[in-house]
Amino acid sequence: MPVTATSWLRPLRGGSQTHLFKAADGHHYVVKLTSNPQGLRTLVNEWIAQRMLSYLKIPCPEVEIIEIPLALIEASPALGITRNKTVYPPPAGWHFGSRFPVDPNLLAVHDILPDMQLMTVRNLHHFAAALAFDKWTANADSRQCVFYRARLLDVLGDEEAGAAPEYALRGLVATMIDHGYCFNGIYWDFPDAPGFGLYHRSEVYRKVRGWNDFEPWLERIRNFPETLLDRAIHEIPQAWLASTSEDDLSGLVEKILRRRGKVASLIEATRERFPNHFPNWR
Ligand SMILES: Nc1ncnc2c1ncn2[C@@H]1O[C@H](COP(=O)(O)OP(=O)(O)OP(=O)(O)O)[C@@H](O)[C@H]1O
Ligand SMILES: [Mg+2]
Repeated sequence: MPVTATSWLRPLRGGSQTHLFKAADGHHYVVKLTSNPQGLRTLVNEWIAQRMLSYLKIPCPEVEIIEIPLALIEASPALGITRNKTVYPPPAGWHFGSRFPVDPNLLAVHDILPDMQLMTVRNLHHFAAALAFDKWTANADSRQCVFYRARLLDVLGDEEAGAAPEYALRGLVATMIDHGYCFNGIYWDFPDAPGFGLYHRSEVYRKVRGWNDFEPWLERIRNFPETLLDRAIHEIPQAWLASTSEDDLSGLVEKILRRRGKVASLIEATRERFPNHFPNWR
């Protein structure tokens, strides 16, 4: 069920012209509008990708369908998609929301970190995981994430955190965002390029020493259940599927499933093309 947006805060940077809202559940959301310039299917991609990432246990924000009421649009003149200095308001109704991991009025969230600080991020191993995911989904974008301080246990989960007492503490963590270009954006044709999904700083891959660093994720991908994709698709609002047929959707699912066994070879091609990104992988 959608969550209703209660206030509009501001536009955010980026090609899809997202906006920050507060919603009735008390959380803040970065909202991609159905009228965004990157196309309606990027909302579908975001939704499916989040369900896949959650299954793989790769940190990513919660997502919700965000209902923007007409009254809020009318009360927020800067809310919309800007073309030639004109703001075109979005249609009232259901849009895509990626939950802000903290209250943005109280705590900082960073798009990038200086290298020294980047090295202190407590879940850098999830960048190898995200690379496996991005190869699988032909994410035609570089890897993007945001960093913030959190209780490590909340981000890493019991399985990884184990019994180590330090995981009750807080630390800098990365959570993976922006999956609009998975499945090659609106095209759903999965071209594979070695640079897809790489993070712009190679430091995040410094601890990668071999296939063991990818294996837990590769195994989860190999065993990924078809039913999960079916469930994800049924959650998607019809309005987001205006230019998508049943055949398009079943074709997408089929291609995703068929590629489950191909991920290691795609990572290998990336390593061959960008060896400097993996200096300790011998
Ligand atoms: N869940 C989130 N929590 C915090 N910030 C977020 C979240 N999702 C997105 N953002 C912020 O909103 C910005 C735009 O989001 P996103 O990257 O998904 O859209 P985009 O238009 O594709 O941006 P770009 O073209 O810059 O890649 C991000 O750079 C990030 O700062
Ligand atoms: Mg982006």
